[in-house]
Amino acid sequence: MNSIFDIAEKLVKSSSLNVDEYEKLIDGFNPEIAEYLKIEAVKKRRSVYGNQVFIRGLIEISNICKNNCLYCGIRGGNGNCQRYRLSPQEILSACISGYELGFRTFVMQGGEDGFYTDEILCELIGEIKKRFPDCAVTLSLGERSRESYQRLFDAGADRYLLRHETADEELYGKLHPENMSLENRMECLKNLKEIGYQVGCGFMVGAPCQTTRHIAKDLKFIEEFKPDMCGIGPFVPHKDTIFKNEKAGSADLTCYLLSIVRLIHPNILLPATTALGTVENDGREKGILSGANVVMPNLSPESARKKYELYNNKLNTGVENAFHIAELKKKMEGIGYEVVVAKGDVVASPQRYKS
Ligand code: 5AD
Repeated sequence: MNSIFDIAEKLVKSSSLNVDEYEKLIDGFNPEIAEYLKIEAVKKRRSVYGNQVFIRGLIEISNICKNNCLYCGIRGGNGNCQRYRLSPQEILSACISGYELGFRTFVMQGGEDGFYTDEILCELIGEIKKRFPDCAVTLSLGERSRESYQRLFDAGADRYLLRHETADEELYGKLHPENMSLENRMECLKNLKEIGYQVGCGFMVGAPCQTTRHIAKDLKFIEEFKPDMCGIGPFVPHKDTIFKNEKAGSADLTCYLLSIVRLIHPNILLPATTALGTVENDGREKGILSGANVVMPNLSPESARKKYELYNNKLNTGVENAFHIAELKKKMEGIGYEVVVAKGDVVASPQRYKS
């Protein structure tokens, strides 16, 4: 079990490796092995989801955030960030437009903004589910108490995205302020799962100080946690952070990791992220061709879009724009995929839920 090809083959066959093997697989990245894993990942995805690509309407509800994650453009400490918050009415309007465009999942994403109390969110979620019973509501609103997650779930929320950011405590400490902890992040993820959400974790590729060992630990965590969704995108520097002069993460490595995650969990919902589209032309198409099966175009009102700047040069035109859905459909057709009007829930596999 020492050649990189043996390790790749083991992953294809058993969907599991140890941390050392994941590390070797990442260190041994080369175009040939990437091509092999890509072909196998696409085969697995096809067996579960055919050639369908799910779309999610992303609504960036607020860039006000109490946290100060060192890499993030909307961190609370950034005095140069022009803050905004959408009202529940504006969010509902975005859902109405989105529904007409064919979206059947609405993702409400935002900073940790105290305005969005359980009361306000529960009422809003209830209203969206009442008007659009055939749609899923996904939340991406950071760390909250277990009670809060439970209330939002009871109000009708279906899914929750909370990237773990890194599975390594030391690296977590280098990327976050002292008042944040990996332990609490993991506790939140566990709570979300126990409550019954479809849960998404994820991490950035090429984050400052990140080594291949760290990524290997992320992969092992993803293997064991068995998330329903996983957001993986390259790190992109933002000018108002201490990481402004760092390099962006690699699109090729991101695509390689998408293939690996697809092979670990054939049924996972895996987005080709905006960050991937930002670091490389046609990054999103490359992501789909590597094993991803979800895209999340932006449904936020025009006024909000430029201000939700997690990193510099974030794409907000073309296929990133939910209102340009026809262009996205054409691009996906061009590479042999079909954008569908569907809720796009995770497919439960006997293999995953056996234990
Ligand atoms: N580059 C890439 N991704 C980023 N995120 C935050 N800042 C950046 C950045 N500079 C990601 C984080 C977060 C998600 C909403 O966006 O992983 O969880």
